Amino acid sequence: MTDRRLRIAVQKSGRLADRSGELISGAGLRILKGANELLYRIENQPIDLLRVRDDDIPTFVADGVAELGIVGYNVLAEHFPDRDLEEMIVQRLGFGSCTLKVAVPNDVDYTGPQWLEGKRIATSYPNILGKWLKDNGVTAEIVEMRGAVEVAPRMKIAHAICDLVSTGATLEANGMKATDLVLKSEAVLIKAPHAPPSELAHTYDMLLRRFDGVTASTG
Ligand code: PRP
Ligand code: ZN
Ligand code: MG
Repeated sequence: MTDRRLRIAVQKSGRLADRSGELISGAGLRILKGANELLYRIENQPIDLLRVRDDDIPTFVADGVAELGIVGYNVLAEHFPDRDLEEMIVQRLGFGSCTLKVAVPNDVDYTGPQWLEGKRIATSYPNILGKWLKDNGVTAEIVEMRGAVEVAPRMKIAHAICDLVSTGATLEANGMKATDLVLKSEAVLIKAPHAPPSELAHTYDMLLRRFDGVTASTG
């Protein structure tokens, strides 16, 4: 007898939240919304959903606080720039596609990554951008911002930005154009480094099979 339950870390709100919920429902898990906003119970399985900020998901899963997590590849790559991410990734989920791109104001005559030499670039992805700059032999100053990166050039905080682009509406609304692709991203299912407790192994395996089935059927 045990009351130990599996935990899946999911984004509480934001770009992946709805589709993550659909994946979980699609796998036959009945989500019981409780008074506790951080933790939702699954009614028909010994599973809880840990509902957190996307940026917290890589750490929670790597530390084993949650056995599984659904997170953007971009967030994972930023968090663990030096790890072999394939060891953490169980499967790619086929939703939440977006790209991390460098963008500059429309009036800039952009000639290639060398244009960025000695400039300031605002981003929420300093590790990924830092690597990309190095790969391209560019030395630039990275200005780290948590959000509203798109306003940085107008505020004269930076000459360029590196941010997620999905529809392109944010760039357009801010008078900017994308120049370089830095990273392609989509939602991924990640797992903790240690196997789940033995009494939950069956539930864990069932869950992975079902997620695989849902992903395969939705393309
Ligand atoms: C990202 C990014 C842009 C927007 C781009 O923000 O920072 O603001 O999406 O999408 P678009 O090309 O469709 O306009 P997100 O919604 O992830 O929120 P955040 O900036 O608060 O992290
Ligand atoms: Zn975030
Ligand atoms: Mg944004």
